[in-house]
Amino acid sequence: MKPGKIIISGERLNGRIKELGQEITADYLGRELVLVGILKGALIFLADLARAISVPLQFDYMVVSSYGAGTETTGAVKILKDLDADLNGRHVLIVDDIIDTGLTLKYLLENIQARQPASLRICTLLDKPSRRRVDISPDYRGFTIDSEFVVGYGLDYNQYYRELPYIAVMEE
Ligand code: IMP
Ligand code: MG
Repeated sequence: MKPGKIIISGERLNGRIKELGQEITADYLGRELVLVGILKGALIFLADLARAISVPLQFDYMVVSSYGAGTETTGAVKILKDLDADLNGRHVLIVDDIIDTGLTLKYLLENIQARQPASLRICTLLDKPSRRRVDISPDYRGFTIDSEFVVGYGLDYNQYYRELPYIAVMEE
């Protein structure tokens, strides 16, 4: 398996992230945000999105791993590093790379909701709605894609290809 066809160029990523930043800025005007990045996948998106938002904000992140290698999630989520910030009473925006089955995010939403934020929303760079197994949809979405397995811009295949500055489909 290797990265093949580029489905979203670096230029399109940059343009769309600027738009998302403006949308988020407008929605949170007069408030402060805590961006909670779900690492490692959201690392690069978090860095670029944060710089496209112009309300006061803090960064925090969780490092999670879905059990197992390869291209299928099992739904079991392991928290390798938890948040530092106290989210009680804060406006929290979860920043994730991709929503596929939705199982990871469902788990994290419940986990973060239990910390009693003032508000909780989801921003994902990519969305594969056709693969969904639980009822979850993002408040902000960069791009909707088909059910193919993609890499680049933070997304990996067995931990490789996160550094690619575009989104490509894995091919034989
Ligand atoms: P979900 O729990 O199935 O929604 O997906 C959880 C995680 O699987 C995502 O946050 C990604 O880290 C990973 N994932 C899902 N689809 C892809 C893909 O197409 N490429 C790379 N990682 C993916
Ligand atoms: Mg991920």
